[in-house]
Amino acid sequence: MRDVKPDLLEKRFLQPFASKAVSPPPVWLMRQAGRYLPEYRQVRADAGSFLDLCYTPKLAAEVTLQPIRRYGFDAAILFSDILVVPDALGQSVRFAEGEGPRLDPIKSVEGLARLALSNTNDKFARVCETVERLSQALPRETALIGFCGAPWTVATYMAEGKGSSDQAAARSWAYRDRTGFAQLIDILTEASIVYLTGQIEAGADAIQIFDSWAGSLADDEFMRWVVAPTARIVKGLRTRFPNVPIIGFPRGAAAMLQPYIEGTDVDGVSCDTSCPLSVMQTIAKTGTAVQGNLDPLLLVTGGDALDARADALCSAMTGLPFVFNLGHGIVPGTPPENVARLVDRVRQHRN
Ligand code: CP3
Repeated sequence: MRDVKPDLLEKRFLQPFASKAVSPPPVWLMRQAGRYLPEYRQVRADAGSFLDLCYTPKLAAEVTLQPIRRYGFDAAILFSDILVVPDALGQSVRFAEGEGPRLDPIKSVEGLARLALSNTNDKFARVCETVERLSQALPRETALIGFCGAPWTVATYMAEGKGSSDQAAARSWAYRDRTGFAQLIDILTEASIVYLTGQIEAGADAIQIFDSWAGSLADDEFMRWVVAPTARIVKGLRTRFPNVPIIGFPRGAAAMLQPYIEGTDVDGVSCDTSCPLSVMQTIAKTGTAVQGNLDPLLLVTGGDALDARADALCSAMTGLPFVFNLGHGIVPGTPPENVARLVDRVRQHRN
């Protein structure tokens, strides 16, 4: 059980990370700031590129606050992107309209010469300024979550040069040249510790590590590329910031959640939609906080189907350290009124 600072316990979101059940559960949603909100699309259009938005503290803070104003979520998540880390290290990232991220791929150890931790200062500082602004601007009861991508998931984009369905470039590199790929993972691990340390010093109350492609690895590779680097990040932060909860999101790896929790020492896990409620209950009963896992498509659908699953999730997790969330991010076509309906439903939940 983590010893959360007493003054932080007035933020409901933080209590499950001290193994406490909160009723009704705290709620926030992955990608709660984004294209489904008209006010986001407005700021996004004015900002120029997506990365300009991430690197302009005033605008990034504004879009972080938009969903808090609308829905009063228990936590805000810093508006940025997991690909800020490779971009800051020296592998430029572009977001082509409607196409997702594009990078000049690094497919072998020779390509690592482009990357240097000393390149990151200016870009990391801008993101940390956003965090600082937010910690001033947010209501006292709203927690602020900082984040990064896990080294494995970030490496999949760096090796492929874009998103992919099978992460083939990174998986093949890791099989072909384990020590070379380990160098990339080391660079990302070190950069992530520096980046998250900056976010915590600037005012983040908790950290989430997004490992969106954790589910594509065999068990021994999962231990090597997902668990070990995440454990190093957790250790690097914990020694300096023992009271800041760290949440892991190893998406698609429900069967590996137990070794993930034991191996990384995270305070909580975010579960994707395919993770059975029985698995979430088993984990939460051991005192590890669980977040999740409503299907983002139910939020598009709305109506009775949305209500029924939200109720089932709240009921299943009653009395356990639980944070209501989605199993993955809000999709752009989501009607904003369905988000309001969901938040009301969760807030009205009684055992
Ligand atoms: O509200 C929040 O959740 C905070 C901001 C946030 C974004 N991305 C904003 C964003 C967070 C936490 C992320 C994490 C992220 N980014 C992940 C991990 C979570 C997951 O979704 O699996 C990954 C893999 C990325 C990489 C990424 N960023 C991709 C593949 C894309 C393109 C796909 C898409 O949705 O367009 C992005 C772009 C992105 N990141 C957008 C937003 C709001 C949309 C870009 C735009 O507005 O033009």
